Amino acid sequence: MKLCRIATVLAMLVFGATAAGAIELKDITYHTENAGKVVFSHKKHLEKKPRRDPLQCKACHENGKKAPEKANMAGMEKGKSCGACHNGRGAFALAACVRCHKVRDVSINVKQTGPVVFSHQKHLKKVQDCAKCHNALFKTGKNPPVTMTAMGKGESCGACHTGKQAFPLSDCQKCHPYRDKLYKVKDAGNVVFSHKAHIDLSFSCKDCHDSIFKPGKGNPKTSMAKMEEGKSCGVCHDGKKAFTVKSDCATCHKSS
Ligand code: HEC
Ligand code: HEC
Ligand code: HEC
Ligand code: HEC
Ligand code: HEC
Ligand code: HEC
Ligand code: HEC
Ligand code: HEC
Ligand code: HEC
Repeated sequence: MKLCRIATVLAMLVFGATAAGAIELKDITYHTENAGKVVFSHKKHLEKKPRRDPLQCKACHENGKKAPEKANMAGMEKGKSCGACHNGRGAFALAACVRCHKVRDVSINVKQTGPVVFSHQKHLKKVQDCAKCHNALFKTGKNPPVTMTAMGKGESCGACHTGKQAFPLSDCQKCHPYRDKLYKVKDAGNVVFSHKAHIDLSFSCKDCHDSIFKPGKGNPKTSMAKMEEGKSCGVCHDGKKAFTVKSDCATCHKSS
């Protein structure tokens, strides 16, 4: 079996393949240090109809050579290796980084605010260079946590999010999305907690997260009795810091 496969492969490489489907060729995975994995698929390449001649073995394996010439990105830009075709004419251009480098959206967990989603796709439209971030600002693996204060001094996201090349750190919601929270209360009327209203009062996230409320699910249902004891909304709505849960029912409960 093995000899047979080698013979077929050699024959295909030397004479060109008209019967490309005759043998299953492996995907080749390139592991790069700072740029993730790149998978080259023989199958997908041999399926495609290029604008030039059909993608036979010879298009890449000159004179039956086993491996096409290796090259780094700089070499590819000069037309070597993948760059022989991936130049915007034979196939999509090298500028389309993420079509070869599989990078996902990354979800960074933040205890106080819930996850922050970093989108490679959206960033690479504006910052077309892995090296702008890797590994000067971020390792491609998990990074140690950075505080907003450190970002304010130019670390991590704060290297760019200064209000010049990208929106400033003061636009919290663009990175930490929050919504209004609807509490359904049958008898007394529904309650809407408005983040905006509270943040406009110059509360910051840490006044409530994680001490009073976990962002997202995981807060047990509470009762007015608990609030009157100073829990949940009652931490502030006690008649001193803010109007009280003991009387101002209609400010929170709207009949609808
Ligand atoms: C604007 C900054 C930025 C640019 C540009 C950028 N990255 Fe990232 N990358 C990040 C951040 C932030 C993380 C998440 C790090 C963490 O989880 O702590 C990350 C994580 C990764 C990871 C690990 C997570 C995963 O998806 O498996 C890989 C691999 C990666 N990047 C590859 C790349 C490649 C390849 C490019 C260029 C095509 C690139 N990055 C460009 C910021 C960037
Ligand atoms: C679009 C370019 C391209 C075409 C067309 C192509 N190959 Fe490849 N082939 C490659 C690349 C890239 C590698 C990986 C070389 C390396 O190790 O860096 C490779 C590796 C190989 C290997 C060694 C790895 C393995 O799977 O065992 C064999 C054998 C091979 N090709 C056979 C073929 C045959 C047979 C055909 C025609 C049916 C073919 N190739 C067509 C690009 C191509
Ligand atoms: C002989 C020309 C040629 C060479 C060399 C070549 N490609 Fe391609 N590639 C194509 C064509 C043609 C397509 C399909 C047209 C398109 O999508 O623009 C394609 C499509 C792709 C795709 C999308 C299909 C898929 O597999 O998901 C990827 C990814 C890709 N190539 C990666 C590579 C990598 C990595 C190399 C170098 C190791 C390489 N190619 C070398 C011609 C080539
Ligand atoms: C056609 C597929 C393809 C595209 C498009 C592509 N790359 Fe690559 N890239 C590769 C392959 C394959 C390697 C691995 C080369 C090796 O190790 O032999 C690589 C390696 C790298 C490396 C490792 C160091 C080096 O320079 O080789 C970096 C960084 C990188 N790519 C960044 C990028 C960026 C940024 C873009 C977009 C501007 C991009 N790549 C577009 C296929 C691609
Ligand atoms: C190398 C510079 C750079 C770094 C580092 C960077 N960004 Fe960006 N970011 C940009 C640019 C440029 C834009 C597009 C312009 C704009 O929206 O202001 C952008 C846009 C965004 C957007 C809006 C697009 C979208 O995804 O919806 C978000 C959210 C974002 N960045 C989050 C982050 C987070 C989180 C980090 C850190 C993990 C980060 N950025 C690090 C440059 C950067
Ligand atoms: C450009 C995106 C971005 C913007 C804008 C942003 N943050 Fe963050 N924030 C992050 C990321 C990413 C982390 C997690 C960093 C880590 O773990 O490495 C974080 C962490 C935090 C933390 C936990 C760490 C700490 O500093 O205590 C808090 C709280 C926080 N952000 C609040 C805010 C507030 C309030 C604002 C607006 C004034 C804001 N953030 C604006 C991306 C952003
Ligand atoms: C006055 C208190 C308060 C402040 C200040 C506050 N939050 Fe919240 N937050 C809440 C409450 C209440 C919930 C709902 C909890 C629940 O679902 O049980 C919540 C939920 C969230 C959620 C989950 C949203 C969802 O739709 O699942 C996120 C994310 C969040 N907050 C982010 C923030 C960020 C970022 C800040 C700072 C800019 C902030 N919060 C400031 C009270 C607050
Ligand atoms: C960290 C303190 C704090 C917490 C916790 C808090 N609030 Fe408030 N809230 C305030 C302050 C201060 C005001 C404005 C003061 C006033 O009008 O008495 C306010 C105003 C309001 C208002 C009127 C403004 C508007 O949104 O129209 C409502 C309604 C409200 N809070 C509901 C809630 C609910 C529901 C909860 C619990 C899910 C909650 N608050 C938790 C401090 C807090
Ligand atoms: C600061 C805002 C706020 C004020 C003021 C407030 N409530 Fe509530 N109330 C809530 C929230 C939020 C819930 C839902 C809690 C949950 O589901 O976790 C709730 C739940 C309830 C419930 C159902 C749970 C239970 O304890 O039986 C009743 C009934 C109720 N409220 C009645 C009242 C009455 C009567 C008043 C006035 C004396 C009042 N509330 C004042 C925010 C408020």
